[in-house]
Amino acid sequence: MGVTKKDWGEVDGKKVYLFTLVNHKGDSVTITNYGGTVTSFVVPDKNGNRSSVIVGFDSLQPYLQKPPYFGATIGRFANRIGNAKFTLDNKTYQLNANDGKNTLHGGLKGFDKVVWDASVPSDSIPSLVLNYESKDGEEGFPGNLKVQVTYTLSDDDALKIEYDAQTDKPTPVNLTNHSYFNLSGSVKNLILDETLWIDADKYTPVDSTLIPTGEIKSVKGTPFDFTTAKKVGRDIDSVKGGYDHNFVLNRKDSTSLEKVAEVSDSISGRTLEVYTTQPGIQFYTGNFLDGTFRNRDGNLLTKHSALTLETQHYPDSPNKPGFPTTILKPGEKFHEVTTYKIKLNQ
Ligand code: GLA
Repeated sequence: MGVTKKDWGEVDGKKVYLFTLVNHKGDSVTITNYGGTVTSFVVPDKNGNRSSVIVGFDSLQPYLQKPPYFGATIGRFANRIGNAKFTLDNKTYQLNANDGKNTLHGGLKGFDKVVWDASVPSDSIPSLVLNYESKDGEEGFPGNLKVQVTYTLSDDDALKIEYDAQTDKPTPVNLTNHSYFNLSGSVKNLILDETLWIDADKYTPVDSTLIPTGEIKSVKGTPFDFTTAKKVGRDIDSVKGGYDHNFVLNRKDSTSLEKVAEVSDSISGRTLEVYTTQPGIQFYTGNFLDGTFRNRDGNLLTKHSALTLETQHYPDSPNKPGFPTTILKPGEKFHEVTTYKIKLNQ
C-alpha cells in the first residue's frame, strides 16, 4: 500500500515521473505528470488474473508521438469549440484550430501535452496531486488559470479524480480525463460486446464536424438509448462513424457525485462504474483508432478496440447559450469530481 515514484524522462526541460498508487488489495493505478496521464489501472479479472483495463504504454516515448489522448487530462476546454472561436463580454477570442476549423481538447498544446508539477500527499489513502498554471493567452484562452488534479485509489478499486481551478479573468473551462477502457484487458476483444448503461434520457446531436447543433434531443427510439443496458455494438451500425456523442446526464442535483454509467464485460467478469458531478459524458467508441499505436498488451489499437466515457460539460458550450455555462470567473472555485470504479460482475 502506498505510492512509488520513478524517473520517466524529460520534456521541455522538465522532469517526468511515473507514480504508482497501490491499494491494500495490491491493485494499482499508474499516472505520469506528463499530461496528467493515467497510463494503467491494474485490477483482477474473475479468475484473479491482473491486467490493465486502461489502454496505455509502459514508457514515455510513445506518449510523445501524439497518441489520441490516451489516459490524458484534457483542458483548458475538453471536446470541441466550433470555428476555434468564442465571444465573451463582447470580445471575440481566436483559438488555435487543431481539428479542421475547430479546436479540440484545448488546442495544439493542451493540458495533455504539458509537464505538471507533482506532489504526493502524506494521506492514509494512496494519492497524487498535480498542478499546472495555464498562462493568459495560452492557445488563445483569456486569463491565468491555476489547475489542480488530485487522484486517489481506494481499497474498493475506485480511482477518484478531482479537478480544481481558479482564474484571474473570465474564461471557459471544461476538464476531463480521456482514459480508453477495454475491460477484458486485451484490446483484441472489441468493445462492441461490452454492455453499457448511461443514465441519460437526452443527448446533443452534432453536425458533420461533431459540433453540437444546439438541440437537446430525446434518446427514445434512437441508437443513443442506453437507459436500459445493451451491447455497445447492438445499434452502432445506425450511427454514422460510430458513437462520439455527448449525453445529457439525468442528474438529480448539480453538485453531488452520482452514478451515471456502467459498462460490463463477460470475458473478464469486470464491471466499470462511472460516478461524476459533471452534467455530461462523451461516449466515444474509438472510431478513429487506426492501428498507428500498439497497446502495452502487444496488440494494435484499431477501431472499437477501446471506449471512452469522458465526463464533461457539453461540447461547444461557449458558443451555445442554451447549454449550461462553462465560464469560470475570478473569485469562483471550479470543482468537479469523477470516479471510475472497477468491480467483478454480480
Ligand atoms: C474525443 C473526441 C473524438 C476524438 C477523440 C480523440 O473523444 O470526441 O472525436 O477526437 O477524442 O481521437
